[in-house]
Amino acid sequence: MLRKMTQAANPDAGHPLRIGVVGVGVMGSNHARVFAGLPGTELVAVADPDQKQADFVARTLGCTAVADVEQLLALDIDAVTIAAPTHLHHDIALACIDRRVHVMVEKPIASTVAEGRDIIAAAAQAGVTLMVGHVERFNPAVEAIKEAIRGEDILSIAITRVGPFPPRMSNVGVVIDLAVHDIDLIRWFTDSDIVDVQPQLSSAVAEREDIALLQFRTASGVLAHINTNWLTPFKARNVTVATRGKYVMGDLLTRQVTECFGFQPDGSYSMRHLSVGHAEPLRSELLAFVRAVRSGATAAVTGEEGVASLEIATLCLDVRPTVAPAQHLAPRVVVG
Ligand SMILES: NC(=O)c1ccc[n+]([C@@H]2O[C@H](COP(=O)([O-])OP(=O)(O)OC[C@H]3O[C@@H](n4cnc5c(N)ncnc54)[C@H](O)[C@@H]3O)[C@@H](O)[C@H]2O)c1
Repeated sequence: MLRKMTQAANPDAGHPLRIGVVGVGVMGSNHARVFAGLPGTELVAVADPDQKQADFVARTLGCTAVADVEQLLALDIDAVTIAAPTHLHHDIALACIDRRVHVMVEKPIASTVAEGRDIIAAAAQAGVTLMVGHVERFNPAVEAIKEAIRGEDILSIAITRVGPFPPRMSNVGVVIDLAVHDIDLIRWFTDSDIVDVQPQLSSAVAEREDIALLQFRTASGVLAHINTNWLTPFKARNVTVATRGKYVMGDLLTRQVTECFGFQPDGSYSMRHLSVGHAEPLRSELLAFVRAVRSGATAAVTGEEGVASLEIATLCLDVRPTVAPAQHLAPRVVVG
């Protein structure tokens, strides 16, 4: 305990960071895999009430399996990833922060904005690092797009994130599960808040919305659009950004990014493929988390940014149009 308190106050302490992963389903088992090979860290244990799954991951990666976060925290952990179902993020994060353990929490930060704010306040008070797993920011194709539009006058952004239903349905629809990635990207690409929200949602098959067409305007005047659903038979993740000087197109799966530029009055223009890195996004994300823990610097994706994106996603659900089918007019909502 003495070492833990010293470590939280002095994040530069030289020992490997003792890491725990809470929830080792689809996403958490990937966190555990990456941490198991990450320099400067030691994957100590994974916690999951699904004993078979916890044992499998622990055996594969050579760490300890425990049933819950309390047993994990008893192992003198310095930092955790929380990849349990979203409705558990709040309580698990508070339990970790209460022990002055640094927290990387998967997106969305929590089920509600109020819960997200609770986590932020607790982390600030305890002086621990809090980072939110908006892993798409670390996709090399996304990084290349961000670089291509640096200093450009951005006019509009269109993002498509579609695919089939996930194998295990959680208790959220496509807006909280998928669009929250792109809401974060729109805020990050534009360095601006979203101030207008115009959502169109439909539940074609699932109980919750499984199709969403979302339109936004940022404070800086950028128009943005997200097309997301669980009804497309194949996965697609595409981003296009129109600026005054460029048109940038990125495929986040194949990691091809192309820009059109040098527009001429006769309609001609130049085109080039941009260089895109090969790093695994999750590894880059977790390296950024470890750097933030060690340096005490602001995390690459802060709790406030996680809450801001969740707030916009929640708003999209709150203004679900209730008008009769003949009047397909979504209400215009001004945020903030
Ligand atoms: N960043 C991304 O791209 C991305 C992708 C998928 C999921 N996620 C997020 O990761 C989280 C988990 O999603 P998933 O798809 O891996 O779900 P999942 O259902 O595959 O895994 C969740 C795991 O948590 C375990 N669990 C349940 N209760 C627990 C508890 N009290 N303590 C510890 N573990 C517990 C379950 O047994 C399961 O193994 C969600 O918040 C989701 O939004 C993020």
